[in-house]
Formats: sequence, C-alpha cells, structure tokens
Amino acid sequence: MIENLAIFGATGDVTKRYIFPALTRLHDEGCLDGHFSIVGVGRRDWTSAQFQEHISEMLGTHRPQLPTGSREKFLPLLEYARVEDLSQVDSLGRVFANKSGSWLIYLGLPPQLYPSIVKALSHLALPAGTRIIIEKPFGLDYAQSKELNRLLHRKFSEDDVYRIDHFLGIPTVFNILGLRFDCQLFEPIWNRCHIKKVEVIWDETLALEGRADYYDRAGALKDMIQNHLLQMLVLLAIEPLESIWSPEFRDNKVKVLRSVRKLSKAEIQAHTTRATYQSGRILGKPVSAYAMESGVVPERKTETFAQVSMWVDNERWQGVPFILRSGKALKKERKEILIHFKNPRRKGRRLPSKRGHNILHFNLDTDEMNLELLNIEGGAGMRRKPTRMDAQLSSQNLPPYARLFLEAMSGNSTLFIRNDEVEEMWNIVQPIADSWGNNLVPLQTYRAGSLGPSLEGQTPKPHHLKEAQVIDV
Ligand code: BG6
Repeated sequence: MIENLAIFGATGDVTKRYIFPALTRLHDEGCLDGHFSIVGVGRRDWTSAQFQEHISEMLGTHRPQLPTGSREKFLPLLEYARVEDLSQVDSLGRVFANKSGSWLIYLGLPPQLYPSIVKALSHLALPAGTRIIIEKPFGLDYAQSKELNRLLHRKFSEDDVYRIDHFLGIPTVFNILGLRFDCQLFEPIWNRCHIKKVEVIWDETLALEGRADYYDRAGALKDMIQNHLLQMLVLLAIEPLESIWSPEFRDNKVKVLRSVRKLSKAEIQAHTTRATYQSGRILGKPVSAYAMESGVVPERKTETFAQVSMWVDNERWQGVPFILRSGKALKKERKEILIHFKNPRRKGRRLPSKRGHNILHFNLDTDEMNLELLNIEGGAGMRRKPTRMDAQLSSQNLPPYARLFLEAMSGNSTLFIRNDEVEEMWNIVQPIADSWGNNLVPLQTYRAGSLGPSLEGQTPKPHHLKEAQVIDV
C-alpha cells in the first residue's frame, strides 16, 4: 500500500480545484491513515506551516462544506518541499528523502515540463511499489505523447503509470455502461440501425481563470476534446464486455479509437468549428475578451470553443456522427450526453423527424438521466407529443478525483489511460490541430455570455463502408 503522496504543481489550478478537495474527502472517509504523508512540491519559498495555511484558505473556497474539525485533522498530514528546478536530480531527490515506504507521485504541471521532470525522476532510486499519476494533456501533440511514454518507461513499468482523466471518475459515466451492457431495453438498439446521432457537450461559464500559461498553448481542442470528450465517445461506442474490471476493457477502448476516422482536410473544413470569446457579461459580471487576458498571445489564435464531428467506422457505428463540443465563457453550464434515436419506419419510410424523435439524455453534472419519448396525446386532437421520464442515477458518490486517487493507491489502473490509448487519441486529433494551426478553418468569435459561435454548415455527411461490412438496416 502507498504511504506517501508527492504533489508536483501543489499551488496550481487543478490542485486547488480538485486534488485537495478530493484528498480531504478521502481523509473523511478514513482512506488515508494517520501515518500517510502528503508532500506538496512548489517553487515558492514556503515553510510547511505556510503551505498548510494556503491549503486551508483554498479549501474554504473549493470545499466550503468541510467541517472545521475535519480540516484541522487533515492539515497536519501536509508538508512542503521547495524545488526551484524540477530537472535537477539532487534537489528533486530531497523531496523523497527521510521517508519510508512507497510513493504515489502526482504530476499536475503544464505539459511542457513533463519530459524534464520524468527524466530527472529516472535517475532517482525510488522505493519499490512507487507509482506515478500524470495529469492531462499528455503532451501537446502526437510526437510529444510518444516521447513522454518512452521517457516514462525508462523508469516505470506501464502498470505503475496512471494517466489520469477525471471524466473517468464521473459516476454517471459508468451508469451509461451499465445501461448499455446489461439492459435488455437498450443493449439491442445501441447501434447505427437505431441511433441517428450522439452529442457530447461540455459548455462552461468559466472563462480563462488566470490559466493563460497553460491554456493559451492548448486551447479547447487539446484541453477538452483530445482527452475528456474523446473518452466519453469511447465509452459510448465500446463493444459490450463481461466486466470492465478486466484487461479487455482497455483493449476494447483502443479498438474503438483505432476505428475513429482520421478526418481529411475537406472533412475538417466541413465538420469542425473553432472560436474564441470576445468581451461580454456572464451571470451579470463583465468578462474581458480572451485575447486581452493577461498572458494570452493573440497571434497564437487559441480557440476557447471547439466542436468536432467524428465517425467510428465500424459495423456498429457506420455513418453515425458523434459530435463533441466544449467551450468556455458561455451563457450557461451544460455537461451532457444526448443520444438521438432514429424514428421508426412506416411502409418502408422513416417517420419525418419534424415530428420529433426519442432522445436519451444524461446530465453529467447532476447525475440525472431523462428519456424523451414520443407519445400520442389522448383527447380530441390525438396529437404526437413528447413525454419525459426522469431518473436520478447516483448520489453520495466520491468526487471523480477522490475515486481515481483511491484506485491508483490500490494499484488498479483500469480507469486510467494506457500508453497505446493516449497515442491513438493524439493520432485522431493531430490532423485537426494541424489544419487549425494552418488556418484551414477560420477562427470565429462569440460574445462571452452567449451560446457560442454560429454552427451553420456542419451537417454531418455519412461515410460509407465497403458493401461486405454493412449490416442490413
Ligand atoms: C479540466 C480542464 O481538465 O476540465 C478545464 O483543464 C475544464 O479547462 C475542466 O474547466 C472541466 O471539468 P469539470 O469537472 O470542472 O467540469
């Protein structure tokens, strides 16, 4: 069992928004014993007491419901280690000195720093059983992800590398798998014969939040679509299996990724949108244009909104568009998956969709599921009318980061991304990133606090498989 946790990027955005709130939750649940030590590593010249004070303040904002008593019991677990240069083997070694037992190392740093720290770590003699968690994005392009995998494997076996994607800790995501694999109602219709379109939407009201250092080099495509939303696509499209707790789960995920079409330049022009926000108001507060934010280099033309249509070119999904979209500084939060079903056929023809269609809707924020069904309204008119069924899927679950840290501490990497998987994900996104970098798709603008840019001209076109592979509809 892991006895120590080292957090690199201890004063960063991810750490304050997610990691420490998650660790306090694990502490509340009795998952971190009294001897567990947490070492925050940063460049600031702080003492452990100053670090504890800083974390205490952050918890006030990011986990305000934490009772004072629990906070006071948690804070003494924290120590601080100052390392000015993460590529310096000697100063890095001091983080791990004077402690016995194995480590869980968490890297929550800007991706450009990963190669040098991973190289430096490879020169240290770390205790047996030490594991490493790496925050996304895993590199900023395909070549970097390959190189980072190579560097990691110099020191760690693949079993000890945990590439984290916190969307894989969202409870509702696993309800979707249950529904797909174990439910007699949905299992037989989860394919192109019955599903018309799938949408994964992650609209945020949050703007840049002072993260230009990282975000301006990434943008919405690399920050959200290359990892979180592509993972959602994989779980929606994966072939059914007996258990997700088997190696087959990650094998099947990679199979889906290999079937995702690498879009041609023409397809990228027709089926992707990128945009950046201009000044506006969100929830009554003024927001300045992205390009004017401190640390942003406007010439980089970084997108804060991205929409991409993808196709999984296999027998199950041939021709069904998966539309992935995420944007910042939008009017309202929408964290949803929508499955649009095809209408039934009458006398060989599908009922026209202007009468509506059936939609299965997952709200990943509130853990709710709704099914919109078409029904016939009784009474004189006998009109077709949508009916909605609502269900609360999960409650009182651990937050995603707490769940995933617990898995990593217990040595279970099923819910983490494998080396070949991350490279496949980059393989899919790289042509889009390259085309956008070459301005093949114009950068649109939208007002902060609006619903986003115009998405006209993005009607997904079907792509035909060879005759032999087509299942008769
Ligand atoms: C992070 C991205 O990984 O996910 C952020 O870097 C984004 O830009 C966040 O805001 C969204 O996840 P959640 O769980 O906060 O909705």
